[in-house]
Parts: sequence; structure tokens; C-alpha cells
Amino acid sequence: MALARHFGLLAAAALVTIVAGCGRESDGPGTGSGTASLPTAATLGDQQVLTVGEYLAAEPYASADRSRGERQAQICKACHSLDRGGPNTIGPVLYGFFGTEAGSQGDFEYSAALRDADFVWTPDALNAWLAQPGQFLPGNRMVFAGVLRQSDRDALIAYLLDVTASADQDGKKD
Ligand code: HEC
Repeated sequence: MALARHFGLLAAAALVTIVAGCGRESDGPGTGSGTASLPTAATLGDQQVLTVGEYLAAEPYASADRSRGERQAQICKACHSLDRGGPNTIGPVLYGFFGTEAGSQGDFEYSAALRDADFVWTPDALNAWLAQPGQFLPGNRMVFAGVLRQSDRDALIAYLLDVTASADQDGKKD
């Protein structure tokens, strides 16, 4: 069982490498991957924090394809549990993380960069982090090349909003 999980992680790590390789080839100067104007952790500024239900009711998440997002999320699951009460693994558990301070899961050992970061996880922050983690927050330890396409990030974020929301985040009964 533990061994099987290990192989799963290795396979996912290989996938991350493949994605990273594709990114480099197709993301040359001027190819317009849509990341140029994204904020960084330092330039996010004051963000308006809404409930998960409000985010999901508005565009681009209202009409995003959540089943496509679910497929995108397989790669996150190599390192993150999305489940209520789930464990921290390679990365921190992501259940209930929207609207919380970055780097604030008490029992996960974050990099100094993420622990000391001063912003809240909104869809906009996540969108910029997922596009280019290293650029968004230099010095973080998430080994992930990024999700290049904006429509892929929209789908993934819509899915994550839906599945990681706790009862007090969206008014659902847990
Ligand atoms: C190869 C493993 C790996 C993969 C794949 C991965 N992450 Fe991470 N993630 C991490 C690690 C490790 C951290 C902690 C980084 C640090 O401390 O600097 C992290 C941190 C995060 C955080 C910050 C959480 C907090 O508590 O502040 C978010 C949000 C996040 N990841 C989302 C994602 C999403 C969404 C995906 C899928 C697209 C993903 N990650 C894919 C390893 C990974």
C-alpha cells in the first residue's frame, strides 16, 4: 500500500517533469502564454475576499468546466490532499484553504518564503501562483512548472473551489 502510493508519487513527479518540458518549449518570448500581466505575491495588494459560493457564482468560474478541472487536479493530488481531515503529505492539505492566510497550516513545514508571505488565498492569487509559482513567490518549495493555459487554470480553480470548500466557506452542510 505504502509502496503503491510511492509509485504513484514517482509517476506524478515524472508527469510534472514532462509538463515542465512542454512549458519551456512552447513558452518562448512573445508566445503570449497570458502570464505577463499577472501579479506576484508582492504586488497583490489589498484583495477583496469573497465566499467560495460567491466566487463560483461569478465568471470565469461559473462557466468553467469543472470536470476538466478535476482532470487537471490529478497532478496536484500527487502532493496535496484535498480532503477534509486529510494529511499533509509532500505539500500541505488544501481542504478549506481559500480565504486563509498563505503558509498558515500549523503543522506543515513551509519554506521561509511561504511562511513569511503576507497574502490571502483568493482565486486571483491562486491563478498567479499556478501560472508560475517561482515567479509569483520566489524561494517557495513547490516543485511545479505551472499550468500554462488560462482556461486550464480557470477550470482547475473552479474545481478546487468546489471540492475544498468547508461548510462555513460556502454555506453547504458538511
Ligand atoms: C511536486 C509536488 C507538488 C505538486 C505537483 C503541487 N504542489 Fe502545491 N505545494 C507543494 C509544496 C511542497 C508546497 C509548500 C511550498 C513551500 O513551503 O514553499 C505547496 C504549496 C501549495 C499551496 C500553498 C498552500 C498554503 O498553505 O499556503 C497551494 C495553494 C498549492 N500548493 C496548490 C497546488 C495546486 C493547485 C497544485 C496542482 C496544480 C499543486 N499545488 C501541485 C508541492 C506540490
